[in-house]
Amino acid sequence: MTDANTQVGRLDEALADLRQHTKVTPKVALVLGSGLGSFADTLAAKTVVPFGEIRHMPVSKVVGHAGNLVVGEAAGMPVVAMQGRVHLYEGHPVVDVVFGLRLMLRMGAEVVVITNAAGGCGDGMEAGDLMLITDHLNLTGQNPLIGLNEPELGVRFPDMTQAYDPELGALAKQTAAAGGFSLREGVYAGLLGPTYETPAEVQMLRGLGAHAVGMSTVLEVIAARHMGARVLGISCITNKAAGISDQPLSHDEVTETATRVRGQFIGLLEGVLSGIAAG
Ligand code: 6GU
Repeated sequence: MTDANTQVGRLDEALADLRQHTKVTPKVALVLGSGLGSFADTLAAKTVVPFGEIRHMPVSKVVGHAGNLVVGEAAGMPVVAMQGRVHLYEGHPVVDVVFGLRLMLRMGAEVVVITNAAGGCGDGMEAGDLMLITDHLNLTGQNPLIGLNEPELGVRFPDMTQAYDPELGALAKQTAAAGGFSLREGVYAGLLGPTYETPAEVQMLRGLGAHAVGMSTVLEVIAARHMGARVLGISCITNKAAGISDQPLSHDEVTETATRVRGQFIGLLEGVLSGIAAG
């Protein structure tokens, strides 16, 4: 019997639904952000499961966030990817925002690659840059671990000293160097949204040490660390944050830039996955 009032119970019901489609135990889980979902299309031996076919899996209504769990192979290794995610600003409870991530770990993945589209606010950050996330600021005002702790998932007070795994970060930097493109590094600030920031807020974030700003990732990284997974985070800088450039921001610009750097982004993920498969 599962208890649908606990996260473990909900996850095991979702896992039972997913197991109707595939028995694969993935090594790596990927979360593919706005405009970056096409990486899942490149997987070999794919099984595509729409989020709607999995109990408790929240479904997004934002354009450009196709919701599928894609199970397949990359670098000869079993992987699972979320093509699209739900965000807090859509009104989903925080536990639903991290449900898909937890489900992929419950399938057996031990490494998580989390990607997003973000605004650049660090010095010299340009639209089209890829940025290795070295640390984050959780400014959402939320935390997926609020409430009774479920020890089957993790400890009450997870350490966040090395939330982003240094070895995976080094692998990403080697991959970029070998591919002949630059990989920026910096701190990602995760905010609630859905408004983009004001110029004053962007100045505040710079003062706090942020180099990129977005509306995702930090809650998923908390849930992943709680469950003991190693995390690699990559931001695609799709635009400069407000006030850094005098251009107004639009979601179209975000998806256009993400599409423009798709080749580099896919190359980076392929290189990183090859490195993980080899290691
Ligand atoms: Cl400038 N801000 C936020 N919060 N999210 C973004 C963004 C900016 N650009 C892309 N995503």
